[in-house]
Amino acid sequence: MSAKLSGDVYYPSEEVLSKAHIKNWDELSKKATEDYEGFWEERANELNWFKKWDKVIDDSNKPFYKWFTGAQTNISYNCLDRHVKTERRNKLALIWEGENGDFETMSYYRLHKETCKFANILKSMGVEKGDRVTIYMGRTPEIVIAMLACARVGAIHSVVYGGFSVEALHERIEDSQSKVLIVSDGAYQRGKIVPLKEIADEALQRAGGIEHVIVIKRTGQDVNMEFGRDMWYHELANLPIANQSCALEIMDAEDPLFILYTSGTTGKPKAILHTHGGYQVGTYTTLKYVFDIHEEDRYWCAADPGWITGHSYIVYGPLLNGATSFLYEGAPNYPYPNRWWSMIENYGINILYTAPTAIRGLMRFGDAWINRHDLSSLKLLGSVGEPINPEAWKWYHKVVGNEKCPIMDTWWQTETGMFMITPMPCVPLKPGTGTRPFPGIEMDILDDDGKPVGANEEGYLVIKTPWPSMIRTIYGDPDRYVNQYWSKYPGVYLTGDSAKRDEDGYIWVIGRVDDVIKVSGYRLGTAEIESALVSHQAVAEAAAIGIPDDVKGNVIYSYVILRAGVEGTDELKEELRQHVGYEVGPIAKPASVKFVEKLPKTRSGKIMRRVLKAEEMGEDPGNLSTLED
Ligand code: WT7
Repeated sequence: MSAKLSGDVYYPSEEVLSKAHIKNWDELSKKATEDYEGFWEERANELNWFKKWDKVIDDSNKPFYKWFTGAQTNISYNCLDRHVKTERRNKLALIWEGENGDFETMSYYRLHKETCKFANILKSMGVEKGDRVTIYMGRTPEIVIAMLACARVGAIHSVVYGGFSVEALHERIEDSQSKVLIVSDGAYQRGKIVPLKEIADEALQRAGGIEHVIVIKRTGQDVNMEFGRDMWYHELANLPIANQSCALEIMDAEDPLFILYTSGTTGKPKAILHTHGGYQVGTYTTLKYVFDIHEEDRYWCAADPGWITGHSYIVYGPLLNGATSFLYEGAPNYPYPNRWWSMIENYGINILYTAPTAIRGLMRFGDAWINRHDLSSLKLLGSVGEPINPEAWKWYHKVVGNEKCPIMDTWWQTETGMFMITPMPCVPLKPGTGTRPFPGIEMDILDDDGKPVGANEEGYLVIKTPWPSMIRTIYGDPDRYVNQYWSKYPGVYLTGDSAKRDEDGYIWVIGRVDDVIKVSGYRLGTAEIESALVSHQAVAEAAAIGIPDDVKGNVIYSYVILRAGVEGTDELKEELRQHVGYEVGPIAKPASVKFVEKLPKTRSGKIMRRVLKAEEMGEDPGNLSTLED
């Protein structure tokens, strides 16, 4: 790396460099580029395999890439059994705090036993390799156990974020054809109970296929238990079948580990498929190198297990590394805005990974809340989910990190499974960019014709090399996989983001170029919000767009054509907002509902959302030649 970089640069301190696993990024990058397969093979050799691979990358059927073909493994073995055989067995795997102050710790030994117990219960219900299991829970240790138990028996878990609601859950259960649902009675959030079981009951009224529901008691309020279908976990766990040892299923490297639904450009959410072999190598390596995981660390990823960030960097990545991970159930500002800071101090957390929206939200409460706490344990910070504005970056760096913690701004996606554009502690940082692609990975920024754009010009962000934890397909819809990601530029993976590259090769991600809206870092599709609106009896047609917001990144604005004879009142606006909240989830509630007579459409009938956005923001709508009239 040339000594002098342009712009606002933060160079790594001697202190940080002296401890880092990777001290020289250029050296690692050179090694990974010269022998890409060898690089990943070496990383894979740090984990356990029942049988080694014949091939590292199998690209005989592009874009359906395979990794470590011929190998046998099970990610749950690498997360648990591997550590239990060493002195790590009594190390804490999890530290958990409930929003109401409940508290639990779990060693690797205990987590292994609890996972076996849960796995035996799943087996007793007839869950077999390849079966889908939907998990709909709050942030408690049981969600981690449930995921690992599925992996252990070879079932494919489909976690649905606990902030989603009836229709979102229904759609995902139905699409995945799950036979078992694991749900908690409720979750504490901002002092209230989110009635997860009640929401699930509603969803199950709409969806068929679920044979068994395992209910985990968390909040303890009365819930409806349907005889023959619903069973309490704590009762099942007392039965003789819930043995604490459970032989695991030997998985091929390419056997499915999980599906995770994410919003796409159009239509229903897509089931992104990840597999046992490559995914474990990718998440293990990236967490180790980027967050510089050491034996004594106390690491906190403040995301939800129900999103890819939680799958890769709350559950699998940390456990693969034998790390101690902290999990918190509730809201950042409950009961007071110092909740996070007090937990960091209490537990001596030294790595914090969160989203720009949370940083901006906490920044708003003022520095006094944070300055009451000793955060000197922190050594490294992370950011994910959307571009971080330099102002928030600097606050995070100065006030949270006391100017000594490097910030790892990690760009990646549900589809990539692991960090793709990211610094490491040894890399000079610039506020607002994740710096460069992970060593060995080639990315580019292209114009419409597929030509690389010049420095500081905007274009489509693409990935040109396969990577171990890449999406394998859209479960049940391989054609959509090819069309969505590999058809704009054949042979090249399209991310859906636009970006620029500066003169130092640092990539600045700008945002989505499709109809995906990032609200507080959560990925939502315009299609889901629109179909929720249209499912209300008063609505004939609807459109949804994202409008920039200082804290949330974006908020949703919606435009509604009412059915004939329906009067557009303020009460109806509020009812429609609530309706979207009930169907999709509170995060999807539009900030604004406007009643309109007409929506701008192309002659082929597609809603021109950019016209709505330009109008809302008082900007020039650009080319209107395709507008219907
Ligand atoms: C989209 C993927 C991957 C974890 C959470 C999101 C945006 C993600 C960054 C970042 C700028 C980012 C992109 C991407 N994004 N991280 N560090 N800087 N933008 O996963 O829900 O699949 O969303 O999030 O737009 O395409 P996801």
